Amino acid sequence: MSQSKQYLPSAEWSANAHVKGMDGYRALVAEAEADYEGFWASRARELISWQTPFTKVLNDSEAPFFKWFEDGRLNVSYNCLDRNVERGLGDKTALIFEADNGDVTRVSYSELLAKVSRLANALKARGVKKGDRVVIYMPMSVEGVAAMQACARIGATHSVVFGGFSAQSLRDRVQDAGAVMVITADEQLRGGKQLPLKSIVDEALADNSCPTLKDVIVYQRTGGSIAWVAGRDLWLHELLEGQSSDCAPEWVESEHPLFLLYTSGSTGKPKGVQHSTGGYLLHAALTTKWTFDLKPDDVFWCTADIGWVTGHTYITYGPLALGGTEIVFEGVPTYPDAGRFWQMIAKHKVTIFYTAPTAIRSLIKAAETNEAVHPKNYDLSSLRLLGSVGEPINPAAWEWYHQHVGGGRCPIVDTFWQTETGGHMITPLPGATPLVPGSCTLPFPGITTAIVDELGNDVPNGQGGILVVKKPWPSMIRTIWGDPERFKKSYYPSELKGYYLAGDGAIRDAETGYFTITGRIDDVLNVSGHRMGTMEIESALVSCTELVAEAAVVGRPDDTTGEAICAFVVLKRPRPSGDEAKAIAKQLRDHVAKEIGPIAKPKDIRFGDNLPKTRSGKIMRRLLRAVAKGEAVTQDTSTLENPAILDQLGQAY
Ligand code: PRX
Repeated sequence: MSQSKQYLPSAEWSANAHVKGMDGYRALVAEAEADYEGFWASRARELISWQTPFTKVLNDSEAPFFKWFEDGRLNVSYNCLDRNVERGLGDKTALIFEADNGDVTRVSYSELLAKVSRLANALKARGVKKGDRVVIYMPMSVEGVAAMQACARIGATHSVVFGGFSAQSLRDRVQDAGAVMVITADEQLRGGKQLPLKSIVDEALADNSCPTLKDVIVYQRTGGSIAWVAGRDLWLHELLEGQSSDCAPEWVESEHPLFLLYTSGSTGKPKGVQHSTGGYLLHAALTTKWTFDLKPDDVFWCTADIGWVTGHTYITYGPLALGGTEIVFEGVPTYPDAGRFWQMIAKHKVTIFYTAPTAIRSLIKAAETNEAVHPKNYDLSSLRLLGSVGEPINPAAWEWYHQHVGGGRCPIVDTFWQTETGGHMITPLPGATPLVPGSCTLPFPGITTAIVDELGNDVPNGQGGILVVKKPWPSMIRTIWGDPERFKKSYYPSELKGYYLAGDGAIRDAETGYFTITGRIDDVLNVSGHRMGTMEIESALVSCTELVAEAAVVGRPDDTTGEAICAFVVLKRPRPSGDEAKAIAKQLRDHVAKEIGPIAKPKDIRFGDNLPKTRSGKIMRRLLRAVAKGEAVTQDTSTLENPAILDQLGQAY
């Protein structure tokens, strides 16, 4: 792999950035190497206001259950709101909310503090207390961000569930978390459409399936008609009436769980990734400062949804911890047309823009077919920095983003990280790192990523291997909620010498040492930057018991979504073809949408009388991957029990 084409930061960028040039970067890396705990402790003192300062930095006595700053006490909402008001930023805009229809609401730090405090008081009035779990199933909204902050304010642990998940997925999460409350909205507005939320909550909670649940709080967004369960459902606006806008923050221990966020693994049900308070906030703030170079006059826009970790760290927590101004966008990039992002950047004079490769690829396609939505038609001169997250960005999309959105002058930070890591792990720093399209470049200072073989031995640069993190870091996952054994098995397998296993393969460039992520090494797919387990989709398919006998799911490359879901299905009835096959494929997609959510719908469905198996009965997934890609099957099929079915699987519906 040649990495000869590099984009260097301009002299001006390097001179003004928080981290200045590669010398600045190397000095930080050296500082962390020389005194690892001291490196993190000094940033934790600098960026966080502690009610009780910590005296211990890292406790590794119960590894891999690491503790950071454990005797310190703090409150995240205090750090994001009160502290900024106390510093004189009360009138500064914290949030610029743009609704689906283009209406804009600006919320200052004082206003956000008052809003969060009233909501926090309302939650307390309903009996929610420190340590209780609250599920948030909300649209992108000021109220959604405020709900998360209000939980943090009173020490309740939030678990945000993305508004695209189904009733079944929501129920699983409410049950697993043992939540006492769900905060939701009547409906959400996306792309001019009213989409249900409350009715999905009703379905999820039907038949008293979640016995820990007491209240459902409903934010009225659209005024659409909804069913009402007396004694359980409460309007948010009624609950807020008469609540004081003063609410003393609950000071919690640094290790107190700030949130759970469910994500897919290679086996079984989604796992509740548990994050801490102090260590998490530190990395959220530090990465916002160094990776995004956030400055007081910036207008920052992260396009993620608060239902994903990116929305947690780079909407609800990081930018607010630094007193920044940021956009919260309700809608979708293609409404009213595919110029929406560019139009909003121009309108709000956005300076830092952070989005996913999938969005970029689909907007490239849109601009190619409709000149009018090409970014060249918009004034994007306010931009100074671009970011990418969630999946590898292919060099062609990188170049387009750089040239047409960034005007050739904005660095692109390709940030590699995960729900479990809490914040950026491998990323360029914009005033320092020479950029190579398609590479996330070098570890964030203090982060000890490395590439090893199956036994945890370092592999030389230029040779691919398994991505690990050698030392614990402050914002790392603390455990899987309710399942510490699964945490150990998933992330700290015994053969890896105590290193954190990311689940990705990677390679370092022989010359530069730059990292390139080569994709998951487990059965996890990345579709449009959304993470999904193949097993989860398989179980959803086979739960359609009247139709499906057996199913296997693999990924295949897709130009827009990165990966696409491809399902191989054996029905309980004769193999269909033509229109009948199309109709059954639709029925199966709808079933998966109902079980998990529309994002998990298979793009291709292929029917066989059987699945390709070895004589010992194992499904040959490698072969299925080749079929899914449309490749001629060249591998040896002599161990295949029933070679004839390969022909049947050729047709995708
Ligand atoms: O495979 C990697 C990919 O997304 C996975 C993490 O997904 P999730 O927990 O949903 O978090 C997404 C947002 C942080 C990783 O294991 N991934 C994420 N960022 C990148 C990436 N792959 C390549 N390059 C990236 N910049």
